Amino acid sequence: MRFAFLTSLIALATGALAQSSSADAYVASESPIAKAGVLANIGPSGSKSSGAKAGVVIASPSTSNPNYLYTWTRDSSLVFKALIDQFTTGEDGSLRTLIDQFTSAEATLQQVSNPSGTVSTGGLGEPKFNIDETAFTGAWGRPQRDGPALRATAIITYANWLLANGNGTSYVTNTLWPIIKLDLDYVENNWNQSTFDLWEEINSSSFFTTAVQHRALREGATFASKIGQTSVVSGYTTQADNLLCFLQSYWNPTAGYVTANTGGGRSGKDSNTVLTSIHTFDPAAGCDAATFQPCSDKALSNLKFYVDSFRSVYSINSGIASNAAVAVGRYPEDSYQGGNPWYLSVSAVAEQLYDALIVWNKTGSLQVTSTSLAFFKQFDSSVATGTYASSSATYTTLTTGVKNFADGFLAINAKYTPSNGGLAEQFSRSNGAPLSAVDLTWSYAAALTSFAARNGKTYAGWGADKVTVPTSCSSGPGGAGVPVTFNVQATTTFGENIYITGNQAALQNWSPDSALLLSSANYPIWSITVTLPANTAIEYKYIRKFNGAVTWESDPNNSFTTPASGSVTRSDTWR
Ligand SMILES: *[C@@H]1O[C@H](CO)[C@@H](O)[C@H](O)[C@H]1NC(C)=O
Ligand SMILES: *[C@@H]1O[C@H](CO)[C@@H](O)[C@H](O)[C@H]1NC(C)=O
Ligand SMILES: *[C@@H]1O[C@H](CO)[C@@H](O)[C@H](O)[C@H]1NC(C)=O
Ligand SMILES: *[C@@H]1O[C@H](CO)[C@@H](O)[C@H](O)[C@H]1NC(C)=O
Ligand SMILES: *[C@@H]1O[C@H](CO)[C@@H](O)[C@H](O)[C@H]1NC(C)=O
Repeated sequence: MRFAFLTSLIALATGALAQSSSADAYVASESPIAKAGVLANIGPSGSKSSGAKAGVVIASPSTSNPNYLYTWTRDSSLVFKALIDQFTTGEDGSLRTLIDQFTSAEATLQQVSNPSGTVSTGGLGEPKFNIDETAFTGAWGRPQRDGPALRATAIITYANWLLANGNGTSYVTNTLWPIIKLDLDYVENNWNQSTFDLWEEINSSSFFTTAVQHRALREGATFASKIGQTSVVSGYTTQADNLLCFLQSYWNPTAGYVTANTGGGRSGKDSNTVLTSIHTFDPAAGCDAATFQPCSDKALSNLKFYVDSFRSVYSINSGIASNAAVAVGRYPEDSYQGGNPWYLSVSAVAEQLYDALIVWNKTGSLQVTSTSLAFFKQFDSSVATGTYASSSATYTTLTTGVKNFADGFLAINAKYTPSNGGLAEQFSRSNGAPLSAVDLTWSYAAALTSFAARNGKTYAGWGADKVTVPTSCSSGPGGAGVPVTFNVQATTTFGENIYITGNQAALQNWSPDSALLLSSANYPIWSITVTLPANTAIEYKYIRKFNGAVTWESDPNNSFTTPASGSVTRSDTWR
């Protein structure tokens, strides 16, 4: 009995040791491969990104099943945020030219008219482009409103470094600020409209998107003040407050986890939520739960529910102890490319835990609340709620347990990384073999940021330590949209009707076939009311249809810009 107990203790300790030495070895061997993997996928001279314009990040060199030879605003911005963090902290001073190419490529892409619109009519929400900087015009889950926020965050990080390092204000104000401002204005005006989530599948509201939008507007307001662009500050701050308020609504207090999307009909347990904690980590904010900091009780409870949701789903997880690391993917219901573990999701869990360890070490204590109790019981079944100083045995037991747990996730990736170190998008749920797109840029970047966190590296915060959740939530400017009544005076012959179409989805995107029929109840005034996005430049024309023949109004297009709120009446006469 006693002997068996000792043996199992030794086995446990040996298991933990094996995991941390496996993580050590993995960090050492994979770091240079992951860095080279990122750089190979960036134009103009990346070895695997031929055809990509300067500063354009390809998602993967894979051109079929799946074809990822495109540039996504989200992926590119997350990847460049990691490179900008390396550059600004002095880890790699050689990246400046590439970073400058990135900011200028993004400035170009912002101006490319695309199926989501032009730069002023919603085009910033377009998720992906061709790698020669032209629009991708195929069907897609659009818009995706996290991209502009993530891009602003990456570029603000770089701009802050330039300001602090003797670059003067003119380059930042004249070149970078216009790019940042377009993105932040877009977030300010459109955050309260539905979006496709980061996996491009669900059209609703999404935790990751809301959280990164909140972060971007907060640091955007601070940055704008710093460079004297004070006119935007109150608008950004007001919407940041609204976003922070809305962010709280994703927390499911009875279950103890975050529901990743308001739509979609799934469990809601999703890598989305773990990625949120690491990409909005602010080391100055401690374990703040309102911003779901990595060591907050809510984020730790959520992490446990998320991880546990994969234990019985993937057969490579079978036989693993219920408190040990397992392979994890995007969400347990996933079926894309077979629905497998993703390297970047595994890295993200490790990174959240390393971030938590950094903060506990810095504050010299760790708090167990009723919300995080089940998470901590994984490492000490007798632990009770309370605050444990770093001098206590409980602190040591818990932080050692968390560190081993985190290393266990890197050990999972290590186990399923092929011998050449290449990181695909997924690995098989049944045998661990790499699957789907090869050399996924985001997989490499996620490995690098998790390794940096394991080494205790932190980067500049964004003001998460200074926020307060408003007591009641308000909608944003674009929330309900603006009702616009179109009245046009037009005499018609019997059987002839007046329709409207224009540059918005709600106006049928210039399609004469699906143009909206106006009512003739007040003939000769024809009328219709349509809800259009706020703060948006609208163009439209009326058309006549008679016995299948279509007659357009003469040029130019009618145009106006919707206000932030309220309603609009247009009084036109047929031309
Ligand atoms: C500021 O930095 C930008 C980007 O690297 C560079 O193009 C510009 O020449 C710099 N300006 C000054 C005054 O150093
Ligand atoms: C808009 O904001 C309100 C208030 O927070 C919220 O109830 C609603 O769900 C939001 N809608 C979207 C699409 O973000
Ligand atoms: C996304 O959802 C919104 C709100 O329900 C809807 O207005 C919009 O048409 C949807 N978009 C797509 C592409 O389904
Ligand atoms: C905690 O921080 C101290 C410096 O304050 C550092 O020397 C030590 O290595 C850190 N410990 C861990 C486990 O990160
Ligand atoms: C009206 O808008 C359409 C669609 O954007 C465009 O093709 C056309 O050139 C515009 N007409 C004028 C006169 O600007």
